[in-house]
Amino acid sequence: MTDLHHHGDAELAPGLVDLAVNVRADAPPPWLRAVLHASLDAAASYPDPVPARTAVAAAHGRPVDEVLLTAGAAEAFVLLARAVRPRLAAVVHPSFTEPEAALRVAGHPVTRVVLRADDGWRLDPAAVPGDADLVVLGNPTNPTSVLHPAAAVAALARPGRVLVVDEAFADTVPGESGSLAARRDLPGLLVVRSLTKTWGLAGLRVGYALGPPPLIARLAAQQPHWPVSTPALAALVACSAPEARAEAEAAARDLDRWRAALIGSLPPSVVVEGSPRSSFVLLRVLDGARVRDVLRHRGWAVRRGDTFPGLTRDHLRVAVRSPEVSSAFAADLAAILSPAPSPEEVP
Ligand SMILES: Cc1ncc(COP(=O)(O)O)c(C=O)c1O
Repeated sequence: MTDLHHHGDAELAPGLVDLAVNVRADAPPPWLRAVLHASLDAAASYPDPVPARTAVAAAHGRPVDEVLLTAGAAEAFVLLARAVRPRLAAVVHPSFTEPEAALRVAGHPVTRVVLRADDGWRLDPAAVPGDADLVVLGNPTNPTSVLHPAAAVAALARPGRVLVVDEAFADTVPGESGSLAARRDLPGLLVVRSLTKTWGLAGLRVGYALGPPPLIARLAAQQPHWPVSTPALAALVACSAPEARAEAEAAARDLDRWRAALIGSLPPSVVVEGSPRSSFVLLRVLDGARVRDVLRHRGWAVRRGDTFPGLTRDHLRVAVRSPEVSSAFAADLAAILSPAPSPEEVP
């Protein structure tokens, strides 16, 4: 049941432990909340984007005219769809579905490049049509958690093509390895970033795009005036500071250990898809729809996989949480998956 507008937040309900949304659970941290609160003192004035644009540009070593501030990564995809007229857009799946949804709403022809499970969901550059003048992919990829090598992604760039790399989860990987955010030499490269995941700011709506100035200007022309609020701009300044970037790096390293703990505690009948590198893992279980239902009864919300092109009802995406939470989850999953005792075994 592919549904381009289904997202993990729809799986939540009061009382459920949230393993469905990949936003860091204990964030925003107190210092960032203080920044947001303080920013409200300036709420009577229209927002001034200059300090935030300057801070983001400096953090990525790029000139300010290569930076577009947006109301979340999601806005960047809509701006893109309105700004370009591709003859053929290729969207690599399974992947976050809003870019394709935005392209379709704008009436653009879209072809899906569906990566293969038996190849570990790795990017196959040869599968991307050579005549696609717009190519979209995520890295690391939601929902597979696979990190494509930077060189493989970069090889998709060419004159006459816009290459959009959704890097909403790039800062969940230590050293941001795989990121193309600093690459100014690749033609038509647009990197989309978000503060949502690492900083726990899904409700603030804050992100940005990095790319060549003419493309950035075309996207900007589609924005309303004052698209990013004063608190969101304050968050961009604060999260671009070296101390914040060091904190994000430490969180990414914690995440590596937490993900290993989650994977290590899973029962043997659960297949971990690909080589997960981000803040979630994609699992495959037998009878996935039933397993997800029973998990809900036991208090766990996990993200269904079957709304993503290329996945099935047996795929479940699970957020990486602390080892304590993961081991409690794994124990419940093992109990659900273990064969029911035969009547003779029941006391
Ligand atoms: C891969 C990916 N990109 C972008 C987004 C949207 O990010 P934002 O909250 O910045 O709009 C999401 C949200 O789930 C996502 O998973």
